[in-house]
Amino acid sequence: MIDIEDQLTLDERSRTDYILGLRKQWSATVYPALVREHAAGGRRATTVDEATEQLRGLSLYPWFSHLERVQQKMLWRAAGDAVLSRRETLTAQLETAPEGAGGSLTLDPGLPLPSWYTDYDIHIQPGSFYSDAMSAYVYEFGARIVMLRDNDGYKFHTLFTSTALPELPGARRVVDIGCGFGKSTRPLAGRYPDAEVIGVDLAAPGLSLAHAEAEAEGIAIAYRQADGRATGLESGSCDLVTGTMVLHEMPAEAMRETLAEAARLLRPGGALRFLEFQATGDPFRDATIIEHAERNNEPFFHDLFGSDTLAMCHEAGLTDTSWTPFDERRDGVRPDGWGERTEWHFPWAVLSATKPNVPAPNAEGTGAR
Ligand SMILES: C[S@@+](CC[C@H](N)C(=O)[O-])C[C@H]1O[C@@H](n2cnc3c(N)ncnc32)[C@H](O)[C@@H]1O
Repeated sequence: MIDIEDQLTLDERSRTDYILGLRKQWSATVYPALVREHAAGGRRATTVDEATEQLRGLSLYPWFSHLERVQQKMLWRAAGDAVLSRRETLTAQLETAPEGAGGSLTLDPGLPLPSWYTDYDIHIQPGSFYSDAMSAYVYEFGARIVMLRDNDGYKFHTLFTSTALPELPGARRVVDIGCGFGKSTRPLAGRYPDAEVIGVDLAAPGLSLAHAEAEAEGIAIAYRQADGRATGLESGSCDLVTGTMVLHEMPAEAMRETLAEAARLLRPGGALRFLEFQATGDPFRDATIIEHAERNNEPFFHDLFGSDTLAMCHEAGLTDTSWTPFDERRDGVRPDGWGERTEWHFPWAVLSATKPNVPAPNAEGTGAR
């Protein structure tokens, strides 16, 4: 498979490196300066609303916000230009991708896309994940810079797979909801080599790229275009249902439906694990995250922070529910908390739950569809 980054011209490389450098400076220099300015003011907020008001009053905040938004726009422009100028080659690559690993790609051109999904250019990516055959290539390229190159080689996803997912001897089927272009799905195949691995997503471009890349790497994965709220898979057929960075992109009701669908798919004793974000309890830090999401066209991020997802899991008949902090750079799951880090970073966390062997008392609608 062609990695566009191996083909960049010197100008394209310089442009990408400039944006990456800007983002690193913003994260490692401007954000700590913003935190210092807030601390120097001596005002401690007790709520996120209060902290947001204080944040907006800081002299550095307009500069911090401007840099954040501008570098995100520059990033999509650079990624879009690099990908679209190679459209013909990349299209041919998708069309002629070798098969042989034993995976599959099932697209559903008639699948209705929810308006909450199509109404926003998520992350400010023009056209979002779904609107153009090249959307996934653009997203794949852009995401490397967004993650400051720390997720190259799918490091975060591999850490999630190795530290947050349970031992499941004899696992027969695992499903990744909102699999995108497959960087969350491929590590599952290594962790559960005997299981059927299925990746589900609303967006056809991501699935096509995921399929081509998995086949090229010799990894058998069944990719299917479906809504994570109604996957069409059999009830009780899965040992594990995962998702990474998907719940925060949907409104609270869709989140509830997705968790109920995951519960329906699990066999008794099966496990649910979603890598997401959680509020840290520090009002100032949480305010900066929510403000970031607003600027980055992630309108439902505050639904994730504001929803009782553990109660949603209970309603769906799941037990042993918890959120555990996750350090994407070094340790993976960190039961003792996120630890001190001065640079801008997301408060990653893992949502865990289990489908009990005996139905939980509050179970609603599980196993019935
Ligand atoms: C931020 S991306 C994450 C992709 C992948 N899990 C990863 O970690 O790279 C979110 C993905 O969720 C998908 N998505 C959002 N809502 C969905 C839904 N209701 N059903 C299936 N996929 C969904 C989007 O199309 C997108 O590919």
